[in-house]
Amino acid sequence: MDPVRIDVTTPSRGYAVTLDAGALDRVGTLLDGLRVPARRFVASSPLVWRLHGQRLARAIASVEPILVPDGERYKQLPTVMRIYDALVRANADRASTLVTFGGGVIGDMAGFAAATYLRGIALVHVPTTLLAQVDSAIGGKVGVNHPLGKNLIGSFYQPHAVVIDPSVLGTLPRREFRAGLYEVIKYGMTSSPGLFDRVARDRTALFAREPQALVPIIAESCRIKAGVVSADEKEAGPRRILNFGHTAGHAMEAVTKYRRYRHGEAVAYGMLVAAQLATGRGALAEGDRKALADLIASLGPLPPVADLSSAQILEAMRHDKKIVAGRLHFVLPTSVGATTIVDDVADKEVRDALKRVGFRK
Ligand SMILES: NC(=O)c1ccc[n+]([C@@H]2O[C@H](COP(=O)([O-])OP(=O)(O)OC[C@H]3O[C@@H](n4cnc5c(N)ncnc54)[C@H](O)[C@@H]3O)[C@@H](O)[C@H]2O)c1
Ligand SMILES: [Zn+2]
Repeated sequence: MDPVRIDVTTPSRGYAVTLDAGALDRVGTLLDGLRVPARRFVASSPLVWRLHGQRLARAIASVEPILVPDGERYKQLPTVMRIYDALVRANADRASTLVTFGGGVIGDMAGFAAATYLRGIALVHVPTTLLAQVDSAIGGKVGVNHPLGKNLIGSFYQPHAVVIDPSVLGTLPRREFRAGLYEVIKYGMTSSPGLFDRVARDRTALFAREPQALVPIIAESCRIKAGVVSADEKEAGPRRILNFGHTAGHAMEAVTKYRRYRHGEAVAYGMLVAAQLATGRGALAEGDRKALADLIASLGPLPPVADLSSAQILEAMRHDKKIVAGRLHFVLPTSVGATTIVDDVADKEVRDALKRVGFRK
């Protein structure tokens, strides 16, 4: 398969996303070709480095990695401080590049370090989870959690390059892989019927992590994200459609203190809620809602919701940082591949939709 190149063009920076099975083994020459500064540091987690670090080290001529823990609970300023410490001790300067090598947690944290160290050094993402490959590595959102809330501290800082090698997904736990697939379904449902059908059709090959199946769905997801981000870098308008499934999803994560669901799993439920809302107001055909529900169900069981009350979820939605002027915004599907954004949803409609999806009264 030929390497895929996708260009992201935002007002603050343009950059290439390179997607290829085996790209990891050529990161050094790839970055040279893209004129990314040659003094390169890598930030990764102990697990990711143990699994795949050798390949990266060989490709970027013997680097000493900066290893930090990557659980969501470590996505905090003290961990970023450890990255600064390592950069300062190594005398990293303005002509240095920080390469992030891990999932979304490493990318967001080390990306924030790169955005702020010396007011910004070059940043390259080499994402290693499906979620990071199709979502978090593109678009420039970097940051960390505050003890009182998720992603409250951060910035927009576009990377100088993104290098995606699907062969690293072979070691990803099945649950993490599925969590990423729900975001792929999100892209399909909002923007691409072809992608939606492909996930359904190639499910077995995807779970076997076959590059022939992975490359097309990662490429299409990245193209959609790149297009949306290029049109709307700071999420003023069109980028909001990527929040499909995230209004209820974020609320579920907050209510369960980010412990029960992987982000993608909460988004899967959030998409079901939004679809239910849409059929409830006649905006989405029942057949399309069912196609979405069936595809999500076909990937396997999701953690339960029956003990969470719709009132609790509704309350948490009101605290979401994306609320504008007190109105709940919902991205509603209107068919497979198309959406509309509404801000006139009544509480009762939300409660009804939540109940239909399985939340308690
Ligand atoms: N910046 C953005 O636009 C954006 C978008 C979506 C999500 N996010 C953020 O991304 C984070 C979630 O990212 P995530 O889902 O990648 O989780 P993660 O970074 O926590 O990684 C999940 C787990 O997989 C492990 N892992 C990573 N690569 C592996 C591999 N190849 N093989 C085996 N194990 C591997 C990690 O060590 C970790 O235990 C959240 O903090 C979320 O806020 C950011
Ligand atoms: Zn998401």
